Amino acid sequence: MKWGLNIKFIFITIFIIIFISLIFSIILVYQTRKALLYEFAQRGQSLVKNLALNAELPLLLENTDTLTSLAQNLLREKDVQQVRILNERNTVLVNLGKGRKLWAWQQEKIVYPVYLTPEAQKGSIDDMNLYLSDNRNETPAQNQGQLIGTIEVIFSREGIIVTLNRIRWWIFFSGGIATIIGCLGAVYFSYTLIRPIQRLAQATSSIARGNWEERLEVSREDELGALTDSFNLMAASLIKKKQELEASYRELAQRERMAEIGKFSMMIAHELKNPIGIIKGSVDILAKQDTSKQIKQTMIEYIQGEIKRLNRLIDEFLAFAKPLPPQKIPVDINQIIEKVCTHFMIPEPAQKKIAIHRQLGQVPPIMLDEHQIYQALLNLLTNAAQAIEKQGDIYVKTDCAGSWLRVAVSDTGVGIPDAKKGKVFDPFYTTHAKGTGLGLSIVKKIVEHHGGQINVSDFPGGGTTFTISLPI
Ligand SMILES: Nc1ncnc2c1ncn2[C@@H]1O[C@H](COP(=O)(O)OP(=O)(O)O)[C@@H](O)[C@H]1O
Ligand SMILES: [Mg+2]
Repeated sequence: MKWGLNIKFIFITIFIIIFISLIFSIILVYQTRKALLYEFAQRGQSLVKNLALNAELPLLLENTDTLTSLAQNLLREKDVQQVRILNERNTVLVNLGKGRKLWAWQQEKIVYPVYLTPEAQKGSIDDMNLYLSDNRNETPAQNQGQLIGTIEVIFSREGIIVTLNRIRWWIFFSGGIATIIGCLGAVYFSYTLIRPIQRLAQATSSIARGNWEERLEVSREDELGALTDSFNLMAASLIKKKQELEASYRELAQRERMAEIGKFSMMIAHELKNPIGIIKGSVDILAKQDTSKQIKQTMIEYIQGEIKRLNRLIDEFLAFAKPLPPQKIPVDINQIIEKVCTHFMIPEPAQKKIAIHRQLGQVPPIMLDEHQIYQALLNLLTNAAQAIEKQGDIYVKTDCAGSWLRVAVSDTGVGIPDAKKGKVFDPFYTTHAKGTGLGLSIVKKIVEHHGGQINVSDFPGGGTTFTISLPI
Protein backbone atom coordinates (compact mmCIF):
# COMPACT_ATOMS: atom_id res chain seq x y z
CA MET A 1 0.00 0.00 0.00
CA LYS A 2 1.29 3.44 -0.87
CA TRP A 3 0.87 5.94 1.97
CA GLY A 4 0.02 9.50 1.09
CA LEU A 5 1.98 12.40 2.48
CA ASN A 6 -0.81 13.51 4.82
CA ILE A 7 -1.41 10.03 6.27
CA LYS A 8 2.32 9.77 6.98
CA PHE A 9 2.36 13.26 8.47
CA ILE A 10 -0.66 12.54 10.71
CA PHE A 11 0.74 9.23 11.92
CA ILE A 12 4.22 10.54 12.65
CA THR A 13 2.89 13.65 14.43
CA ILE A 14 0.41 11.64 16.52
CA PHE A 15 3.15 9.21 17.46
CA ILE A 16 5.46 12.06 18.53
CA ILE A 17 2.67 13.79 20.51
CA ILE A 18 1.73 10.57 22.34
CA PHE A 19 5.36 9.77 23.02
CA ILE A 20 6.16 13.25 24.39
CA SER A 21 3.01 13.51 26.49
CA LEU A 22 3.65 10.03 27.93
CA ILE A 23 7.23 10.92 28.85
CA PHE A 24 6.10 14.22 30.39
CA SER A 25 3.33 12.51 32.36
CA ILE A 26 5.71 9.87 33.68
CA ILE A 27 8.29 12.49 34.73
CA LEU A 28 5.56 14.62 36.34
CA VAL A 29 4.08 11.66 38.23
CA TYR A 30 7.54 10.61 39.41
CA GLN A 31 8.46 14.10 40.61
CA THR A 32 5.10 14.65 42.35
CA ARG A 33 5.40 11.30 44.09
CA LYS A 34 8.89 12.20 45.25
CA ALA A 35 7.74 15.57 46.60
CA LEU A 36 4.70 14.10 48.32
CA LEU A 37 6.72 11.33 49.94
CA TYR A 38 9.29 13.84 51.12
CA GLU A 39 6.58 16.01 52.67
CA PHE A 40 5.08 12.92 54.25
CA ALA A 41 8.41 11.86 55.76
CA GLN A 42 9.09 15.38 57.05
CA ARG A 43 5.71 15.51 58.76
CA GLY A 44 6.15 12.04 60.27
CA GLN A 45 9.59 12.92 61.54
CA SER A 46 8.48 16.10 63.21
CA LEU A 47 5.50 14.34 64.85
CA VAL A 48 7.71 11.55 66.22
CA LYS A 49 10.34 14.03 67.34
CA ASN A 50 7.69 15.98 69.19
CA LEU A 51 6.48 12.82 70.92
CA ALA A 52 10.05 11.86 71.82
CA LEU A 53 10.71 15.23 73.47
CA ASN A 54 7.55 14.94 75.55
CA ALA A 55 8.15 11.26 76.36
CA GLU A 56 11.66 11.67 77.77
CA LEU A 57 10.61 12.18 81.38
CA PRO A 58 7.73 9.66 81.52
CA LEU A 59 10.11 7.10 79.93
CA LEU A 60 12.68 7.72 82.67
CA LEU A 61 9.92 7.23 85.26
CA GLU A 62 8.28 4.45 83.20
CA ASN A 63 5.00 6.32 83.69
CA THR A 64 2.77 4.35 81.33
CA ASP A 65 -0.30 6.52 81.94
CA THR A 66 1.38 9.65 80.63
CA LEU A 67 3.00 7.70 77.81
CA THR A 68 -0.40 6.22 76.85
CA SER A 69 -2.05 9.64 76.76
CA LEU A 70 0.87 10.96 74.65
CA ALA A 71 0.42 8.02 72.29
CA GLN A 72 -3.35 8.60 72.15
CA ASN A 73 -2.70 12.24 71.30
CA LEU A 74 -0.52 11.19 68.39
CA LEU A 75 -3.06 8.56 67.27
CA ARG A 76 -5.57 11.35 66.78
CA GLU A 77 -3.62 12.31 63.68
CA LYS A 78 -5.45 10.78 60.72
CA ASP A 79 -2.50 8.98 59.18
CA VAL A 80 -0.97 7.63 62.42
CA GLN A 81 -1.76 3.94 62.51
CA GLN A 82 0.10 2.55 65.49
CA VAL A 83 2.30 3.89 68.33
CA ARG A 84 4.63 1.71 70.39
CA ILE A 85 6.81 2.96 73.21
CA LEU A 86 9.52 0.66 74.56
CA ASN A 87 11.89 1.14 77.48
CA GLU A 88 15.66 0.79 77.19
CA ARG A 89 15.37 -2.98 77.69
CA ASN A 90 12.95 -3.18 74.75
CA THR A 91 9.98 -4.01 76.95
CA VAL A 92 6.81 -2.65 75.38
CA LEU A 93 5.33 -0.03 77.68
CA VAL A 94 2.62 1.29 75.38
CA ASN A 95 1.17 -0.31 72.24
CA LEU A 96 -1.80 1.51 70.79
CA GLY A 97 -3.22 1.12 67.31
CA LYS A 98 -6.28 1.81 65.27
CA GLY A 99 -6.80 -1.90 64.79
CA ARG A 100 -6.79 -1.81 61.04
CA LYS A 101 -4.60 -4.25 59.14
CA LEU A 102 -2.44 -2.60 56.52
CA TRP A 103 -0.30 -4.09 53.80
CA ALA A 104 3.42 -3.51 54.05
CA TRP A 105 3.36 -1.10 51.09
CA GLN A 106 0.59 0.93 52.67
CA GLN A 107 2.60 1.76 55.76
CA GLU A 108 5.67 3.73 56.82
CA LYS A 109 7.40 2.93 60.08
CA ILE A 110 9.53 5.44 61.97
CA VAL A 111 11.76 4.13 64.73
CA TYR A 112 13.13 6.74 67.14
CA PRO A 113 15.61 5.81 69.85
CA VAL A 114 15.21 8.23 72.74
CA TYR A 115 18.38 9.39 74.52
CA LEU A 116 18.65 11.34 77.64
CA THR A 117 19.74 14.67 76.22
CA PRO A 118 21.48 17.42 78.16
CA GLU A 119 19.13 20.40 78.73
CA ALA A 120 21.22 22.61 76.46
CA GLN A 121 20.64 20.50 73.38
CA LYS A 122 16.90 20.28 73.67
CA GLY A 123 14.95 21.94 70.86
CA SER A 124 17.70 21.57 68.29
CA ILE A 125 16.22 20.11 65.16
CA ASP A 126 19.54 19.23 63.56
CA ASP A 127 20.31 16.41 65.94
CA MET A 128 17.13 14.53 65.13
CA ASN A 129 17.98 10.96 65.65
CA LEU A 130 15.34 9.17 63.74
CA TYR A 131 15.29 7.13 60.65
CA LEU A 132 12.66 5.78 58.30
CA SER A 133 11.61 2.17 58.16
CA ASP A 134 13.25 1.84 54.73
CA ASN A 135 16.69 2.19 56.29
CA ARG A 136 15.82 0.51 59.53
CA ASN A 137 18.96 -1.60 59.47
CA GLU A 138 21.23 1.35 59.52
CA THR A 139 22.54 2.18 62.93
CA PRO A 140 21.45 5.66 63.88
CA ALA A 141 24.22 8.10 64.69
CA GLN A 142 25.02 7.62 68.34
CA ASN A 143 23.98 10.55 70.42
CA GLN A 144 25.92 11.66 73.39
CA GLY A 145 23.20 10.76 75.91
CA GLN A 146 22.11 7.47 77.46
CA LEU A 147 19.43 5.36 75.64
CA ILE A 148 16.22 5.45 77.67
CA GLY A 149 13.76 3.88 75.24
CA THR A 150 12.47 3.63 71.68
CA ILE A 151 9.42 5.05 69.98
CA GLU A 152 7.98 3.23 67.00
CA VAL A 153 5.26 4.91 64.97
CA ILE A 154 3.55 3.35 61.98
CA PHE A 155 2.06 5.87 59.56
CA SER A 156 -0.58 4.91 57.01
CA ARG A 157 0.28 5.81 53.47
CA GLU A 158 -3.34 5.42 52.36
CA GLY A 159 -3.99 9.15 52.25
CA ILE A 160 -0.89 9.84 50.24
CA ILE A 161 -1.63 6.92 47.92
CA VAL A 162 -5.15 8.25 47.26
CA THR A 163 -3.78 11.76 46.62
CA LEU A 164 -1.06 10.35 44.42
CA ASN A 165 -3.56 8.30 42.45
CA ARG A 166 -5.75 11.34 42.03
CA ILE A 167 -2.80 13.44 40.81
CA ARG A 168 -1.66 10.61 38.56
CA TRP A 169 -5.13 10.34 37.08
CA TRP A 170 -5.26 14.11 36.46
CA ILE A 171 -1.83 14.13 34.86
CA PHE A 172 -2.71 11.29 32.50
CA PHE A 173 -6.13 12.82 31.83
CA SER A 174 -4.59 16.17 30.89
CA GLY A 175 -1.94 14.29 28.91
CA GLY A 176 -4.76 12.53 27.05
CA ILE A 177 -6.56 15.81 26.40
CA ALA A 178 -3.30 17.37 25.17
CA THR A 179 -2.75 14.36 22.91
CA ILE A 180 -6.26 14.63 21.45
CA ILE A 181 -5.81 18.38 20.87
CA GLY A 182 -2.39 17.68 19.33
CA CYS A 183 -3.85 15.01 17.05
CA LEU A 184 -6.67 17.30 15.95
CA GLY A 185 -4.00 19.94 15.31
CA ALA A 186 -2.01 17.43 13.26
CA VAL A 187 -5.08 16.53 11.19
CA TYR A 188 -5.90 20.23 10.74
CA PHE A 189 -2.33 21.01 9.67
CA SER A 190 -2.23 18.07 7.39
CA TYR A 191 -5.37 19.33 5.66
CA THR A 192 -4.36 22.97 5.48
CA LEU A 193 -0.69 22.34 4.69
CA ILE A 194 -0.48 19.08 2.80
CA ARG A 195 -3.81 19.21 0.97
CA PRO A 196 -2.73 22.23 -1.13
CA ILE A 197 0.54 20.46 -1.93
CA GLN A 198 -1.41 17.38 -3.01
CA ARG A 199 -3.71 19.52 -5.12
CA LEU A 200 -0.62 21.08 -6.69
CA ALA A 201 0.78 17.63 -7.46
CA GLN A 202 -2.56 16.55 -8.98
CA ALA A 203 -2.78 19.71 -11.06
CA THR A 204 0.81 19.22 -12.28
CA SER A 205 0.15 15.67 -13.41
CA SER A 206 -3.15 16.78 -14.92
CA ILE A 207 -1.26 19.37 -17.02
CA ALA A 208 1.28 16.70 -17.91
CA ARG A 209 -1.63 14.59 -19.21
CA GLY A 210 -2.65 17.48 -21.44
CA ASN A 211 -5.37 19.27 -19.41
CA TRP A 212 -3.92 22.67 -20.13
CA GLU A 213 -6.81 24.54 -18.58
CA GLU A 214 -6.02 23.19 -15.08
CA ARG A 215 -5.79 26.06 -12.54
CA LEU A 216 -5.63 26.27 -8.74
CA GLU A 217 -7.57 28.61 -6.50
CA VAL A 218 -5.32 31.01 -4.58
CA SER A 219 -6.91 31.37 -1.16
CA ARG A 220 -3.88 31.92 1.07
CA GLU A 221 -1.43 34.70 1.80
CA ASP A 222 1.48 32.46 2.86
CA GLU A 223 4.24 30.64 0.95
CA LEU A 224 1.77 28.01 -0.22
CA GLY A 225 -0.36 30.75 -1.69
CA ALA A 226 2.72 32.11 -3.47
CA LEU A 227 3.52 28.60 -4.73
CA THR A 228 -0.03 28.15 -6.05
CA ASP A 229 0.20 31.55 -7.69
CA SER A 230 3.50 30.62 -9.38
CA PHE A 231 1.95 27.35 -10.51
CA ASN A 232 -0.94 29.18 -12.18
CA LEU A 233 1.49 31.60 -13.81
CA MET A 234 3.59 28.70 -15.05
CA ALA A 235 0.51 26.93 -16.46
CA ALA A 236 -0.59 30.11 -18.20
CA SER A 237 2.84 30.69 -19.71
CA LEU A 238 3.00 27.04 -20.77
CA ILE A 239 -0.27 27.44 -22.64
CA LYS A 240 0.98 30.60 -24.27
CA LYS A 241 4.19 28.87 -25.34
CA LYS A 242 2.23 25.88 -26.61
CA GLN A 243 -0.05 28.13 -28.68
CA GLU A 244 2.96 29.97 -30.09
CA LEU A 245 4.59 26.66 -30.94
CA GLU A 246 1.44 25.38 -32.61
CA ALA A 247 1.11 28.60 -34.60
CA SER A 248 4.70 28.41 -35.83
CA TYR A 249 4.26 24.72 -36.58
CA ARG A 250 1.13 25.48 -38.61
CA GLU A 251 3.03 28.19 -40.46
CA LEU A 252 5.87 25.78 -41.17
CA ALA A 253 3.50 23.06 -42.32
CA GLN A 254 1.76 25.58 -44.53
CA ARG A 255 5.08 26.65 -46.02
CA GLU A 256 6.08 23.02 -46.56
CA ARG A 257 2.75 22.33 -48.19
CA MET A 258 3.23 25.30 -50.47
CA ALA A 259 6.73 24.07 -51.34
CA GLU A 260 5.32 20.62 -52.06
CA ILE A 261 2.56 22.06 -54.20
CA GLY A 262 5.19 24.07 -56.10
CA LYS A 263 7.27 20.96 -56.63
CA PHE A 264 4.22 19.00 -57.62
CA SER A 265 3.14 21.57 -60.19
CA MET A 266 6.62 21.65 -61.68
CA MET A 267 6.64 17.87 -61.90
CA ILE A 268 3.27 17.84 -63.62
CA ALA A 269 4.34 20.50 -66.09
CA HIS A 270 7.58 18.65 -66.80
CA GLU A 271 5.95 15.22 -67.13
CA LEU A 272 3.14 16.48 -69.37
CA LYS A 273 5.46 18.40 -71.62
CA ASN A 274 7.18 15.32 -73.11
CA PRO A 275 4.09 13.38 -74.28
CA ILE A 276 2.41 16.61 -75.43
CA GLY A 277 5.55 17.44 -77.43
CA ILE A 278 5.53 13.99 -79.04
CA ILE A 279 1.78 14.25 -79.75
CA LYS A 280 2.24 17.70 -81.30
CA GLY A 281 5.12 16.46 -83.48
CA SER A 282 3.09 13.44 -84.59
CA VAL A 283 0.02 15.56 -85.40
CA ASP A 284 2.26 17.92 -87.46
CA ILE A 285 3.54 14.98 -89.49
CA LEU A 286 -0.01 13.64 -89.87
CA ALA A 287 -1.15 17.04 -91.16
CA LYS A 288 1.36 16.97 -93.99
CA GLN A 289 -0.13 15.97 -97.36
CA ASP A 290 2.78 13.86 -98.49
CA THR A 291 3.07 11.61 -95.47
CA SER A 292 2.93 7.96 -96.40
CA LYS A 293 0.25 5.73 -95.01
CA GLN A 294 2.78 3.68 -93.06
CA ILE A 295 4.26 6.73 -91.34
CA LYS A 296 0.75 7.99 -90.60
CA GLN A 297 0.04 4.64 -88.93
CA THR A 298 3.24 4.92 -86.85
CA MET A 299 2.32 8.48 -85.84
CA ILE A 300 -1.13 7.35 -84.74
CA GLU A 301 0.47 4.59 -82.65
CA TYR A 302 2.82 7.22 -81.10
CA ILE A 303 -0.14 9.42 -80.27
CA GLN A 304 -2.06 6.49 -78.76
CA GLY A 305 1.00 5.44 -76.70
CA GLU A 306 1.56 8.97 -75.41
CA ILE A 307 -2.13 9.42 -74.58
CA LYS A 308 -1.93 6.17 -72.61
CA ARG A 309 1.12 7.53 -70.80
CA LEU A 310 -0.62 10.84 -70.14
CA ASN A 311 -3.55 8.94 -68.71
CA ARG A 312 -1.29 6.96 -66.41
CA LEU A 313 0.51 10.13 -65.29
CA ILE A 314 -2.75 11.91 -64.52
CA ASP A 315 -4.04 8.87 -62.64
CA GLU A 316 -0.90 8.81 -60.51
CA PHE A 317 -0.98 12.53 -59.84
CA LEU A 318 -4.61 12.33 -58.86
CA ALA A 319 -4.07 9.31 -56.64
CA PHE A 320 -1.26 11.13 -54.89
CA ALA A 321 -2.82 14.57 -54.69
CA LYS A 322 -6.27 13.57 -53.54
CA PRO A 323 -6.54 10.00 -52.36
CA LEU A 324 -10.19 9.01 -52.00
CA PRO A 325 -11.26 7.53 -48.67
CA PRO A 326 -11.30 3.73 -48.95
CA GLN A 327 -14.68 2.11 -49.70
CA LYS A 328 -14.18 -1.00 -47.58
CA ILE A 329 -15.97 -4.31 -48.06
CA PRO A 330 -14.90 -7.80 -46.90
CA VAL A 331 -12.58 -9.13 -49.59
CA ASP A 332 -10.31 -12.14 -50.01
CA ILE A 333 -7.00 -10.48 -50.82
CA ASN A 334 -5.81 -13.63 -52.65
CA GLN A 335 -8.45 -12.96 -55.29
CA ILE A 336 -7.18 -9.42 -55.84
CA ILE A 337 -3.67 -10.81 -56.20
CA GLU A 338 -4.87 -13.37 -58.78
CA LYS A 339 -6.56 -10.57 -60.72
CA VAL A 340 -3.61 -8.15 -60.64
CA CYS A 341 -1.15 -10.88 -61.65
CA THR A 342 -3.36 -11.92 -64.54
CA HIS A 343 -3.83 -8.35 -65.79
CA PHE A 344 -0.24 -7.39 -65.12
CA MET A 345 1.70 -6.82 -68.27
CA ILE A 346 5.44 -6.66 -68.09
CA PRO A 347 6.26 -3.05 -68.97
CA GLU A 348 8.43 -2.04 -71.83
CA PRO A 349 11.05 -2.98 -72.85
CA ALA A 350 9.15 -6.21 -73.25
CA GLN A 351 12.13 -8.36 -74.02
CA LYS A 352 12.42 -9.18 -70.30
CA LYS A 353 11.76 -12.74 -69.18
CA ILE A 354 9.94 -12.50 -65.89
CA ALA A 355 8.08 -15.26 -64.08
CA ILE A 356 5.50 -14.43 -61.40
CA HIS A 357 5.13 -17.00 -58.60
CA ARG A 358 2.13 -16.95 -56.27
CA GLN A 359 2.50 -18.46 -52.81
CA LEU A 360 -0.91 -17.70 -51.39
CA GLY A 361 -1.64 -18.88 -47.87
CA GLN A 362 -4.96 -19.38 -46.04
CA VAL A 363 -6.08 -15.87 -45.16
CA PRO A 364 -9.44 -14.62 -43.91
CA PRO A 365 -11.39 -12.00 -45.88
CA ILE A 366 -10.73 -8.50 -44.50
CA MET A 367 -12.24 -5.06 -44.95
CA LEU A 368 -10.56 -3.52 -48.02
CA ASP A 369 -11.06 -1.05 -50.81
CA GLU A 370 -10.58 -3.50 -53.65
CA HIS A 371 -9.69 -0.87 -56.23
CA GLN A 372 -7.07 0.84 -54.04
CA ILE A 373 -5.41 -2.41 -52.96
CA TYR A 374 -5.36 -3.48 -56.62
CA GLN A 375 -3.63 -0.18 -57.45
CA ALA A 376 -1.09 -0.63 -54.64
CA LEU A 377 -0.21 -4.18 -55.71
CA LEU A 378 0.03 -3.09 -59.32
CA ASN A 379 2.52 -0.34 -58.34
CA LEU A 380 4.64 -2.87 -56.40
CA LEU A 381 4.61 -5.37 -59.30
CA THR A 382 5.51 -2.61 -61.78
CA ASN A 383 8.47 -1.53 -59.65
CA ALA A 384 9.56 -5.18 -59.20
CA ALA A 385 9.46 -5.74 -62.95
CA GLN A 386 11.37 -2.48 -63.57
CA ALA A 387 14.06 -3.60 -61.12
CA ILE A 388 14.68 -6.82 -63.08
CA GLU A 389 17.13 -6.12 -65.89
CA LYS A 390 16.72 -8.99 -68.34
CA GLN A 391 15.26 -11.95 -66.58
CA GLY A 392 14.15 -12.83 -63.10
CA ASP A 393 11.37 -13.84 -60.77
CA ILE A 394 8.68 -12.06 -58.83
CA TYR A 395 7.16 -13.76 -55.77
CA VAL A 396 3.82 -12.71 -54.27
CA LYS A 397 3.22 -14.33 -50.88
CA THR A 398 0.36 -14.04 -48.41
CA ASP A 399 0.14 -15.32 -44.83
CA CYS A 400 -1.12 -14.43 -41.37
CA ALA A 401 1.06 -13.33 -38.44
CA GLY A 402 -0.92 -12.79 -35.24
CA SER A 403 -3.56 -10.19 -35.95
CA TRP A 404 -1.91 -9.11 -39.21
CA LEU A 405 -2.38 -10.25 -42.76
CA ARG A 406 0.86 -9.95 -44.71
CA VAL A 407 1.41 -9.55 -48.42
CA ALA A 408 5.03 -9.73 -49.55
CA VAL A 409 6.11 -8.78 -53.07
CA SER A 410 9.70 -9.88 -53.76
CA ASP A 411 11.87 -9.65 -56.83
CA THR A 412 15.28 -10.84 -57.93
CA GLY A 413 16.08 -7.41 -59.38
CA VAL A 414 18.82 -4.87 -58.71
CA GLY A 415 17.84 -4.27 -55.09
CA ILE A 416 17.89 -1.03 -53.10
CA PRO A 417 21.03 0.12 -51.26
CA ASP A 418 20.49 0.50 -47.48
CA ALA A 419 21.10 4.25 -47.67
CA LYS A 420 18.21 4.66 -50.14
CA LYS A 421 15.69 2.41 -48.37
CA GLY A 422 14.42 5.29 -46.26
CA LYS A 423 13.85 7.47 -49.33
CA VAL A 424 11.86 5.23 -51.64
CA PHE A 425 8.52 6.18 -50.03
CA ASP A 426 9.20 9.92 -50.41
CA PRO A 427 7.08 11.58 -53.09
CA PHE A 428 9.04 12.44 -56.26
CA TYR A 429 11.97 10.19 -55.33
CA THR A 430 12.80 8.22 -58.46
CA THR A 431 15.72 6.61 -60.21
CA HIS A 432 13.70 5.86 -63.34
CA ALA A 433 14.17 8.11 -66.35
CA LYS A 434 10.43 8.32 -66.95
CA GLY A 435 9.32 7.82 -63.36
CA THR A 436 7.32 10.24 -61.26
CA GLY A 437 8.53 8.94 -57.89
CA LEU A 438 4.91 8.78 -56.74
CA GLY A 439 4.22 5.03 -57.05
CA LEU A 440 5.47 4.00 -53.58
CA SER A 441 4.15 7.07 -51.81
CA ILE A 442 0.72 6.22 -53.21
CA VAL A 443 1.11 2.62 -51.99
CA LYS A 444 2.08 3.88 -48.56
CA LYS A 445 -0.91 6.23 -48.38
CA ILE A 446 -3.32 3.46 -49.39
CA VAL A 447 -1.87 1.02 -46.83
CA GLU A 448 -2.02 3.63 -44.07
CA HIS A 449 -5.65 4.43 -44.95
CA HIS A 450 -6.33 0.75 -44.29
CA GLY A 451 -4.65 0.96 -40.85
CA GLY A 452 -1.63 -1.01 -42.07
CA GLN A 453 2.12 -0.61 -42.56
CA ILE A 454 4.60 -1.13 -45.37
CA ASN A 455 8.25 -2.17 -45.02
CA VAL A 456 11.10 -2.65 -47.41
CA SER A 457 13.83 -5.26 -46.97
CA ASP A 458 16.43 -7.16 -48.98
CA PHE A 459 15.42 -10.31 -50.81
CA PRO A 460 18.05 -13.08 -50.65
CA GLY A 461 20.05 -13.03 -53.85
CA GLY A 462 20.18 -9.24 -54.27
CA GLY A 463 16.53 -8.30 -54.82
CA THR A 464 13.96 -6.47 -52.77
CA THR A 465 10.89 -7.40 -50.73
CA PHE A 466 8.03 -5.00 -49.98
CA THR A 467 5.82 -6.30 -47.16
CA ILE A 468 2.35 -4.87 -46.56
CA SER A 469 0.79 -5.71 -43.18
CA LEU A 470 -2.96 -5.15 -42.85
CA PRO A 471 -5.01 -5.58 -39.65
CA ILE A 472 -7.30 -8.60 -39.70
N1 LIG B 1 11.42 -3.45 -56.36
C1 LIG B 1 12.32 -2.47 -56.41
N2 LIG B 1 13.64 -2.74 -56.61
C2 LIG B 1 14.54 -1.75 -56.67
N3 LIG B 1 14.25 -0.43 -56.51
C3 LIG B 1 12.96 -0.09 -56.33
C4 LIG B 1 11.94 -1.06 -56.25
N4 LIG B 1 10.78 -0.43 -56.02
C5 LIG B 1 11.06 0.90 -55.97
N5 LIG B 1 12.38 1.10 -56.17
C6 LIG B 1 13.06 2.41 -56.15
O1 LIG B 1 12.22 3.37 -55.57
C7 LIG B 1 12.02 4.47 -56.45
C8 LIG B 1 10.65 5.05 -56.24
O2 LIG B 1 9.70 4.18 -56.73
P1 LIG B 1 8.27 4.74 -57.08
O3 LIG B 1 7.79 5.53 -55.92
O4 LIG B 1 7.41 3.63 -57.53
O5 LIG B 1 8.55 5.76 -58.21
P2 LIG B 1 8.94 5.46 -59.72
O6 LIG B 1 8.59 4.06 -59.99
O7 LIG B 1 8.13 6.44 -60.48
O8 LIG B 1 10.40 5.75 -59.78
C9 LIG B 1 12.26 3.89 -57.79
O9 LIG B 1 12.67 4.90 -58.68
C10 LIG B 1 13.38 2.88 -57.53
O10 LIG B 1 14.62 3.52 -57.47
MG1 LIG C 1 6.96 3.00 -59.55
